[in-house]
Amino acid sequence: MRTLRALVVAALLCLVPVLPAHAAGLTYDFEDGTAQGWGPRGDGVSVTVTPDAARAGSGGLAVSGRTATWHGASIPGPFVRGVGYTVTAYARLVAGQPASTIAMTVQRTPTGGETTYERVAAATVTDGAWVRLSGSYLFTAESTDVQLYVESSDATSQYYLDDIVLSPLGDPTREPITTDFEDGTAQDWSPRAAAALQVGTTAHGGTHGLTVTGRSASWDGPALNVLGRMGKGDKYALSAWVRLGPDTASGKLGLSIERRTGGTSSYERVVAPKDVPAGEWVRLSGTYTLAHDVDFLSLYLESDTGTFPFHLDDFTMTYVEPKPIQTGIPSLKDEVPFTMGSAFTRPETLGVHGELLAKHFNGVTPGNELKWDATEPREGEFTFTDGDHLVNFATEHGMTVRGHTLAWHSQTPAWVFENATKEVLLQRLERHVRTLVTRYKGRIAAWDVVNEVVDENQPDGLRRSPWYEIAGLDFIRTAFRVAREADPDAKLFINDYNTEFPRKREALYKLVKQLKDEGVPIDGVGHQLHLNIEHPPASAVEATIERFATLGLDQQVTELDVSIYTDFVSSYDTIPPELLVQQGHRYKELFDVFRRQAGRLSSVTVWGKSDDVSWLRSWPIPRLNAPLLFDDDLQAKPAYWGVVDPSKLEPLVRELEAPAAVVKVDGRRDLEWDLLPDAPLARVGDVSAGFQARTSAAGLYVLAEVTDPTVSAGDRVTFTVDGRSRALGRTSPGVRRTATGYRVEALLGSGTDVEVAVDDRGTRTTWTGELTPVPAVKRASAPRRPAPVLDGAVDRLWSGVPEIRTATWMQGDSGATAKVRSLWSGSTLYVLAQVTDPALSEESANPWEQDSVELFVDPGNGKTKGYEDDDGQYRVSFSGRITVGGTFDASGVKDNVRAAAVTVPGGYVVEAAVELPTITLEEGTLLGFDVQVNDATGGTRTSAVTWNDATGRGYLDTSHWGVLRLAG
Ligand code: XIL
Repeated sequence: MRTLRALVVAALLCLVPVLPAHAAGLTYDFEDGTAQGWGPRGDGVSVTVTPDAARAGSGGLAVSGRTATWHGASIPGPFVRGVGYTVTAYARLVAGQPASTIAMTVQRTPTGGETTYERVAAATVTDGAWVRLSGSYLFTAESTDVQLYVESSDATSQYYLDDIVLSPLGDPTREPITTDFEDGTAQDWSPRAAAALQVGTTAHGGTHGLTVTGRSASWDGPALNVLGRMGKGDKYALSAWVRLGPDTASGKLGLSIERRTGGTSSYERVVAPKDVPAGEWVRLSGTYTLAHDVDFLSLYLESDTGTFPFHLDDFTMTYVEPKPIQTGIPSLKDEVPFTMGSAFTRPETLGVHGELLAKHFNGVTPGNELKWDATEPREGEFTFTDGDHLVNFATEHGMTVRGHTLAWHSQTPAWVFENATKEVLLQRLERHVRTLVTRYKGRIAAWDVVNEVVDENQPDGLRRSPWYEIAGLDFIRTAFRVAREADPDAKLFINDYNTEFPRKREALYKLVKQLKDEGVPIDGVGHQLHLNIEHPPASAVEATIERFATLGLDQQVTELDVSIYTDFVSSYDTIPPELLVQQGHRYKELFDVFRRQAGRLSSVTVWGKSDDVSWLRSWPIPRLNAPLLFDDDLQAKPAYWGVVDPSKLEPLVRELEAPAAVVKVDGRRDLEWDLLPDAPLARVGDVSAGFQARTSAAGLYVLAEVTDPTVSAGDRVTFTVDGRSRALGRTSPGVRRTATGYRVEALLGSGTDVEVAVDDRGTRTTWTGELTPVPAVKRASAPRRPAPVLDGAVDRLWSGVPEIRTATWMQGDSGATAKVRSLWSGSTLYVLAQVTDPALSEESANPWEQDSVELFVDPGNGKTKGYEDDDGQYRVSFSGRITVGGTFDASGVKDNVRAAAVTVPGGYVVEAAVELPTITLEEGTLLGFDVQVNDATGGTRTSAVTWNDATGRGYLDTSHWGVLRLAG
């Protein structure tokens, strides 16, 4: 029996690559009067046990006779391979010795390798007090001549050592690390470069914290060696408190990891640098999953820029036990009639992440590993380690792979375009495409051959990337040709975002049609579908799929995700749960479209599977986002149920504003209804609808625009307001036939709880929500006139042009105001603003805090939460300085405005021209429009007033601007 057990244990030991933790703890207190195995290191060094050197008791080690920094005391082989240890010791200098850094270091020689020296702990030591040195240590490679020794930065320093303790950790990858500096030492932290680390009394908790000064670069600061403390595939929660040093007014700090494999460093962000307000402790917390074999692993604090001093305290790192994935729920891939794909990266092949992928997806797209910067970082030097790993994972799990991507303007190394004539560039492209497609021939089913080449804001619809600037359309032609040659069976795609927006859709359509007509071997169109919680409606996605179906090409959804934000700046600390329910319904509507269009879509890929690793956690800004189907713990979200079984979703109560207005109930669409978009009722069968409401003293006016191509007896709309229902069929009063169905108007009793149900032979689509009465949407008229000269002079051209006034206070209740007139000519809108503002200031560095006028123009009057890319915020200061805001980088609008400003007694005049190249201006065109006047007093804004938008969010959200109607 005993032998058998021993055999089993021995067999198990052989399976474990590193030795298990069977090492004993070691304590050296020198109380027995011997050196307990410690001896001199270096010629002339003497190591003796004396009571003088005792920290407690009567024995300690005295080290003298040193003549080199590496001289000192050493002990052979105290560590067992594969066992992690914490190591602590106390040191103090002999009286009269100058302060120096005393360090504990391990010397060892890995089999077949060179001798290495690894620092375990270090601290500044003086003759005044005992100082604790502490650190941790683990080695895994077979090694000989393992020694622990104590050295000093001062070659001749004499010192005492006592109470050296080596304690083996159970499993070092599961032991938490806590550093609070309460013992007055820097504990295990050491500088990355020149930074000085000192323990001081600026503390977050307790009485001590670490002060970091003398940094030589933004990345220089305190670092903690965590090699051996993280297991591959394991997730850790990291948290640190930071505070700016004195005299530092502002700065951003973050937490990063440096890891090395085979001598090559990689850097990863755990917490992207975030604002640390002066005088406050800020917590940096995040999680990290170690996905690689490493021979160096260090975490460190850094700033985004600058070398300002800061404080660190209360750092913790703890292993996060993974929640098992839910195995009792349906697999997504079994629930949809197309390939169900997920983008993934290397860490996601491990542990529960890998399990989740295998359970739910039968297609995958490497998120970064096949991009140019990953595969050919230097000319002709191809690296496929990560790409191969991911493609192999897919093959092992029977998943098809989308190759992403061969030619793109982003994540492409600079050398590709350097000194490139067209010929050279196309040669580089050809080699790159041929190498990648050949390598994965037969294993990658579809390639995104070109990515994001369309720019609908260019006259020819093509993005001005270096590719295009150097090689024109030929880069696209070459990439497709070579890809086809290299693997004739791979399906070749053109991939882009925003294809659900009509202008981009048409620009892409035109390009694809041209390429196809030329015979370019293009098999399909990829729609990225990076959407947000509100916008655009699922019907826009469906319209895009239907549009491209006319070209007879395959289509795929390639990068679906649904951001919970509608703009590029907002961020939640915690996500409101109802938003996740709303997202579930959004996913449902989208998958309804995909299922309906399954004959045209061969696959649908989500850009990631779980929120914890979504790219939208760092783009466009670091923020808490949750765009995917599974949450941070890999558990199914409402979004998942929206795809698999919407009956499990909590019902959605939508919100809709009902402005004050009176309309004629006659089945005609009054201008009033065009001021705002219809709230969509998602398509069921062939039927969909849009809904609006207006409040008035007479009751609630409602509108339903129904798309229903077939007339049948049961066609009807039922409105239920505060429990009272009213059904209207196609022949009821107020109902009128339209090109695609019928329109219903009615005046109902007042109320706010509304359900709209549209019936068509057995199918029903509904909208349930709550109305909020709001003031009328303001509208104004802009006549057509010859173009005025932009000089700020109110010439005769402006006479008789209707005038509006800013009177909606969004900050303060008095201050500068404007009288505003608008007219149009050709494709340009002209605006004249006469501002009353006797005291003018441009003192603030922020343009919105200077005396200025802002014009808001939305050419489509889309009234979207968030800007579309032709929506602009055009700001002109009293001195004529122009600043422009728009979506993200405002690239679609930043060149649209010209303006002149002149000061006049009591104020100033701004005359501006806004180019509107994305629409054709004509009589009846409606523009989303607003004007804001900022009133500055010295360096601050003291009031702000608009024409229509009272929300104060006009710079983020176009939905509360007024409306300008162009007249003839
Ligand atoms: C993203 C990746 O997910 C990120 O990890 C990376 O930092 C940036 O790129 N459109 C694309 C994808 O075509 O390649 C992008 O992927 C997301 C937008």
